[in-house]
Amino acid sequence: MKGKLAINGGPRTVPEGLKKQWPNITQADKDAVMAVLERNVLTGPDHGPETAALQKAWAEFTGSKHALAFNSGTAALHTALFAAGVQPGDEVITTAFSFSGTCLPILQQHAIPIFVDIDPRTYNIDASQIEARITDRTKVLLPVHMHGLPADMDDILALAEKYDLVVVEDACQAHGSAYKGRMAGTIGDLAGFSLNATKNFSAGEGGFLLTDNDAYAERARMLRTFGEKLTEQKERFRSYACYTIGWNYRLQELPAAFARSQLKRLPQYNAIAQRNGEFLSQELSKIAGLIPPYVPADRTTIYHKYRLRFDPDALELKMPAVEFRDKLLDALEAEGVTVSLWHYTPMPAFPIFQNLDIGYGNGYPWRSPFYDKEITYRPEEYPQALRMFATSLVVHNEQYSITIQDMALMECYVEAFHKVFDNLDELLTT
Ligand SMILES: Cc1ncc(COP(=O)(O)O)c(C=O)c1O
Repeated sequence: MKGKLAINGGPRTVPEGLKKQWPNITQADKDAVMAVLERNVLTGPDHGPETAALQKAWAEFTGSKHALAFNSGTAALHTALFAAGVQPGDEVITTAFSFSGTCLPILQQHAIPIFVDIDPRTYNIDASQIEARITDRTKVLLPVHMHGLPADMDDILALAEKYDLVVVEDACQAHGSAYKGRMAGTIGDLAGFSLNATKNFSAGEGGFLLTDNDAYAERARMLRTFGEKLTEQKERFRSYACYTIGWNYRLQELPAAFARSQLKRLPQYNAIAQRNGEFLSQELSKIAGLIPPYVPADRTTIYHKYRLRFDPDALELKMPAVEFRDKLLDALEAEGVTVSLWHYTPMPAFPIFQNLDIGYGNGYPWRSPFYDKEITYRPEEYPQALRMFATSLVVHNEQYSITIQDMALMECYVEAFHKVFDNLDELLTT
């Protein structure tokens, strides 16, 4: 039987060809990359000239003393934890909901992730639950500015002060968001940013570490290049001696040039994402049962991802929320809306936390001599995160970010949502 919804053979709401691909690559980006090839300097012992210029530009943009470029956000966060002095057996407190690039750096430093449930309104770490998880082993608080919305930094800084902890911000999704007028990534002691292809600020792959602290910056530079102590001296004086277990975390010149060119348009991209996000929120909140992202008055978001929630009670659902979520996803996709789940379990549910033998092997880092506690990760201890996954979807995917889309597309998206919700009976029986 032919229904009204596209999933049942009805007409599709969003016309083909309206979506713009992300990242948005201009002639200026291509020229910047070609200039590197012409120069024929593709890397350097500490960094090359493009990378140096990019670091300077990001330090200026954020108002930070040190901006160090990395080949990923994960590498930048790992390095930030090392710089902060995290040692085997230390505990790092972070949110239950994030990408693996938040929790893996903790393990890479042989430290122990301690997860905290999310605030159901912001989807960020619930700051009111952090204190109960602080122990004598806690070294770092690692909040994530999820989807571009800054976490409750005042509460987090107050706890850090009280317990003498270091704050490392995971600002991987928050390039240019502000909390009480301060830019995300410049509020704690250190921060990591990602420049991967999906981000509002992209190098393809890449990352940044920010800090105002000279000693942290020095340690970070050491870890980034094989644990060496690099100085301004000429390459022929490089000793190649390792002073710690370092890595090769350097950014290459080609992505650095691409990112430096992209950075010039970051304010413009953020403005488009904000316009689109606010428009979607204004329009979709008119549909009973839909809950747009919450942005507290003291902060801004760059809508790196636009997460939309539904209220199963308001919709009087007679089926499990997850089943409805998946039907909604299929129906919206058939109408031509770009939607995804972007994660459907909290990090503590990842296999690496369910089977502690598959980390470094031999139970490390949990069963190292430096950690004498028994720890079990139980997903049910994060009910708000579980509920958020069951009742939300993201209007976004990696290729068609809202960061670049025109209003015409956003209007079609809103129309598609109305169509699906006006025909809920048809959807529920599909
Ligand atoms: C919240 C968060 N943390 C960490 C990362 C890791 O960044 P990358 O993919 O550049 O290693 C990402 C991005 O992918 C992220 O979204």
